[in-house]
Amino acid sequence: MSRARINPSILSADFANFESEFATIANSDLIHVDVMDNNFVPNLTFGLPMVQRMQQITPKPLDIHLMIANVDKWAAGYAETGAFSVTFHAEASDNPVQLARKIRAIGARAGVAIKPGTNVEGVLDDLSEFDQLLVMTVEPGFGGQALIEDTLTKVSAARRRIDQDKLDVWLQVDGGIDETNIQRVAELGADTFVAGSAVFKSQDRAKQIQNLRDLAEI
Ligand code: DX5
Ligand code: ZN
Repeated sequence: MSRARINPSILSADFANFESEFATIANSDLIHVDVMDNNFVPNLTFGLPMVQRMQQITPKPLDIHLMIANVDKWAAGYAETGAFSVTFHAEASDNPVQLARKIRAIGARAGVAIKPGTNVEGVLDDLSEFDQLLVMTVEPGFGGQALIEDTLTKVSAARRRIDQDKLDVWLQVDGGIDETNIQRVAELGADTFVAGSAVFKSQDRAKQIQNLRDLAEI
């Protein structure tokens, strides 16, 4: 497998000091940006103006994770910030394929995410329309939760389909990923790993990012 990607989630960062927080994760692959609306999920973070500003203060590619309702209306705006990728929830879109095409037309990579209770089969047939599949390994909304083991069968199923159809789709996992489980999840086929608390609560974030990456190289 090619090099594993480690994307720290800034949900666990200091929201008043993003510039200095970004500096501590300079060896990451992408910066995972969690947008929550207190509607699709029971938590609130920030919206478009903050993401526009983040785009200005870091040269790192932003991996936007939209946990918002009415995403068909809002996703294009995030793509227009110049974000590297925009991932939205299948559960929040009336037409995920059409929305992915819109995001790609703007120039961002399009990702589709599924919650723990959502079947993966519903998105597998359309995978070629996306650049990334995000299998949520916790209920979206909060950092610091334990990984839900049952979700991992979806990682294996998605990996089989991606390989079988020779698709160029990144397989991302998000929620409860840390040094105790990342290797196992990599073995099941994930190649892109979001880690919030595992990185930001670490004494040496750069070292932890490299540690997670090494463990995920299989
Ligand atoms: C949760 C977010 C995650 C979160 C992960 O809904 O989508 O990105 O920050 O945090 P950890 O890695 O602490 O589970
Ligand atoms: Zn996330």
